[in-house]
Amino acid sequence: MKLREAWNGARERGIFRMNGLLKFITCGSVDDGKSTLIGHMLYDAKLLFVDQEKALELDSRIGSREGRIDYSLLLDGLMAEREQGITIDVAYRYFTTEKRSFIVADTPGHEEYTRNMAVGASFADLAVILVDASQGVRLQTKRHARICALMGIQYFLFAVNKMDLAGYSQGEYQKIEKEIKKLAIDLELEHVKVIPVSATEGDNVTKHSIHMPWSQGQTLLEYLETVNVDADTDEQGFVMPIQRVCRPNADFRGFQGQVASGQVVIGDEVKILPSGEKAGVQSILTADKTADNAKKGQPVTIKLDREVDVSRGCVLVKGAELKVSNMFTALLLWMDDTKLAQGKNFLIKLGTKMLPATVMTIKHKVDIQSGEDIAASRLQKNEIALCDIRLSEKAVFDTFSGHKDMGCFIFIDRVTNMTSACGVILHSLRRAENLTWQKLDITREFRARQMGQKPVTLWFTGLSGSGKSVLANEVEKALSIQGKHTMLLDGDNVRMGLNQNLGFEEKDRIENIRRTAEVAKLMNDAGLIVLTAFISPYRSDRKRAREIIGEENFIEIYVSTPLEECEKRDVKGLYKKARKGEIPNFTGVSSPYEKPDNPEMMVDTSKKPLEECVERVLDTVNRHMGQKDR
Ligand code: ADX
Repeated sequence: MKLREAWNGARERGIFRMNGLLKFITCGSVDDGKSTLIGHMLYDAKLLFVDQEKALELDSRIGSREGRIDYSLLLDGLMAEREQGITIDVAYRYFTTEKRSFIVADTPGHEEYTRNMAVGASFADLAVILVDASQGVRLQTKRHARICALMGIQYFLFAVNKMDLAGYSQGEYQKIEKEIKKLAIDLELEHVKVIPVSATEGDNVTKHSIHMPWSQGQTLLEYLETVNVDADTDEQGFVMPIQRVCRPNADFRGFQGQVASGQVVIGDEVKILPSGEKAGVQSILTADKTADNAKKGQPVTIKLDREVDVSRGCVLVKGAELKVSNMFTALLLWMDDTKLAQGKNFLIKLGTKMLPATVMTIKHKVDIQSGEDIAASRLQKNEIALCDIRLSEKAVFDTFSGHKDMGCFIFIDRVTNMTSACGVILHSLRRAENLTWQKLDITREFRARQMGQKPVTLWFTGLSGSGKSVLANEVEKALSIQGKHTMLLDGDNVRMGLNQNLGFEEKDRIENIRRTAEVAKLMNDAGLIVLTAFISPYRSDRKRAREIIGEENFIEIYVSTPLEECEKRDVKGLYKKARKGEIPNFTGVSSPYEKPDNPEMMVDTSKKPLEECVERVLDTVNRHMGQKDR
């Protein structure tokens, strides 16, 4: 079930008037029994539809527990759905008891587990962490707890499971309880509850265990039904990030979103960030009914008493100090198989806003077990690091301790669309705050008109020796003959000047391409037609170059000459050296080249004579200048 449906289900049942909705996540590895635990709870609490219950019994006949019900089948069946767009595997299950309503994010326990869990955790108030009684606290348990703490969860329920297999031994339990208490101190977890359970047998799940008379406390469900997760929030004032601007007819313009903190009352004066404009709250709609106020957690539509410039990603506030800036320091959990290099660019989802962002500096890693700082310039999967992050423009956010919803984010890979990282904001950086864009009287358009041309950038990409430089050189000559004003930026040349401090590691190449794109843009601003000849091996960097230079000015030309041919040519003798191991990170040999998916054109200099290649490039350029001009 998708989160939105779960919300709607919860809203229809009016749960916001009840004990409060509890959003929680279950953590544990495949064999810890988390599906069984939740399945058993749902079953005991009679939270299944009849047909689901039947299906479960039928399934179980051929299931693993000799004809007895296998509760884990229930959740597995519910986990089929995926969130759309971003590739994550989190199933949201909504259920309600007489005392409370719940949304549980369940994440499959396969190898992508950390990634999915972190995404699930970013939405939850409480984590149920399963500990196998026969294994005790493991590295995995520590990692899960640290990630949940990192994602801002303050309430932890450690369910010491499989007590049946541990002979319901109080001594065994106490040993594990001690380990958990130590972990809680190490991680500075504030609200920690430990309950001994058997997920398969049902001990202490919804009923008190008859096998463990020594455990007198609450059952798992009792605890979940009564825990107050709003007890000690420090969040100040009213905050609501705008999810959608809704305009069903010409007279009505409402701003929809979920109240992230505080409450709003009709007549309140709210501020709209980032603009700082102010307006009064004219009406409030919750669940299609008008209301006098709306509180934290409620999805609402708010109508303001005057026309203001509000779009998705803007934030309504009252009495809350949020930051409007384009740089911050954050703790980042890296979740991709590839390594994270400094300078890499992503889409960041921050509140309800999505925009490009760059990891400027990896300051240091944090050891997951000891919490110590370790120097690092790259991050491997599952590592946590302190990083400085720069956004492509100013956006609204807060520190995580200020407003949880405004202080956590995820990174989405621009090419694969995978969630690559998640993080929490520690503080905003002022460095970029004191700059204002200076408006100049002589504009880009004016300069272009004076030169009588449309300034575009022809971005040649391909392996070393593919013929980029030769082709770009010939194309530039042909354009000059046509009377165009041009500039050719060639990789080797630029590396001898502007980029002489850069090598060939991933982080250096990222910076090489970023600077080159910025220079190409400036030269386009000056009115010139720019040609660049750089290997530019990474898709995401070329994508960013396209954004810096502007889609309408960017023509990507993939010089697709195959590696064998480039190596045969070996004009500079570099392939030979690279094969001998004398040049590290050589593209095509010991460093990757990511082919463009959708370049404006492809040209293989081994298949056609040079003149023909030049003609084809010129045709493409002319066509694009015409098209992109319109
Ligand atoms: S890029 O990958 O950062 O775009 P760029 O185009 O600037 O590379 O520079 C590539 C040129 O540097 C090659 O044509 C080659 O002459 C030289 N070079 C030296 N070392 C390497 C290497 N490790 N990988 C690729 N090219 C290298």
